[in-house]
This record gives sequence, C-alpha cells and structure tokens, in this order.
Amino acid sequence: MKFIKNLMKKEKDYSLYSAAAEAGITMDQMNVLVIAQQGEEDAVYMYEQLAKVVRDEADRKAFERLAGDEKRHSDVFKKYTCMDVKANPAKGIFVPLMYRVLGKKKVYPIIAKGEYDAAEKYKHIINDFPEVVEVMNDEVHHGDAVKGLL
Ligand SMILES: [Fe+2]
Ligand SMILES: [Fe+2]
Repeated sequence: MKFIKNLMKKEKDYSLYSAAAEAGITMDQMNVLVIAQQGEEDAVYMYEQLAKVVRDEADRKAFERLAGDEKRHSDVFKKYTCMDVKANPAKGIFVPLMYRVLGKKKVYPIIAKGEYDAAEKYKHIINDFPEVVEVMNDEVHHGDAVKGLL
C-alpha cells in the first residue's frame, strides 16, 4: 500500500481509488498489480537495452522478442490499473553493463533466475486474476529461453 500511496501523492492522482472501485478490486490488490506492471515495464526496458549490446544475432532477436512479451504482460496489468507506468531504468543500465564486464555465461543465469522468481510471485495472484496464468507461464518460458542461449 505504501508504494501506491507514495505514487499517488507524487502524481497528485487519486483516480486509482475510483479505478479500483470500478474494477471491483481492493486497494491492496491494486497495489500488487501496479508493482507487477512496474516490473514488466522495467523488463521491457532491460531487454531492449540488452538487445542493443549483445554480440550474438540470436541473442539480439531473442531479447527483442522477450521485450515484446513483457510489453504485452504490462498491458495485462494496465487493464486493471488504467495507469501508465514508466520503466525504472536501473536494470536497463546495470544488466548490459554486467554483460560487457562479466559476459553472457555469468549474466544470463541471473536473468533467467529473475524470470523464474517473477513466475513464483505471480503464483500468488492467479487465483484473483486468472489472466495472469498466461503471464506466469511466459516467465517460465523466458527463463528457459535465456538459459537456452548459453
Ligand atoms: Fe513479463
Ligand atoms: Fe519475462
């Protein structure tokens, strides 16, 4: 709840209360959905930035595809939140840097773990939001796909 309250204070936007009421969801659920949407937007940006720096053509194509998937995921959450969420650029800066310094053998397993962790988190909300099942399954496939590039 703190996350969403700070966000609303910052944006001076209280329309989330009415959006939640309209969608028939609680503010706690709304908080979870906004955080999920943020995570997806961060992933879009990270994969876009990664696609720009990777040396292998197959990797670039894979990351461009994953960025597209993450955007679709973000839209699943946006349907509930009715909010535009901007990516936090941290991962989009840090992960390509790690790729340059450490190389793909070290970095791709970390990215894959992030995908599996995301799937694990979504497990807790699929009862309330059945559309998220597909998103959750995608994250597992993403983890496998990134590992498959090694
Ligand atoms: Fe995703
Ligand atoms: Fe993903």
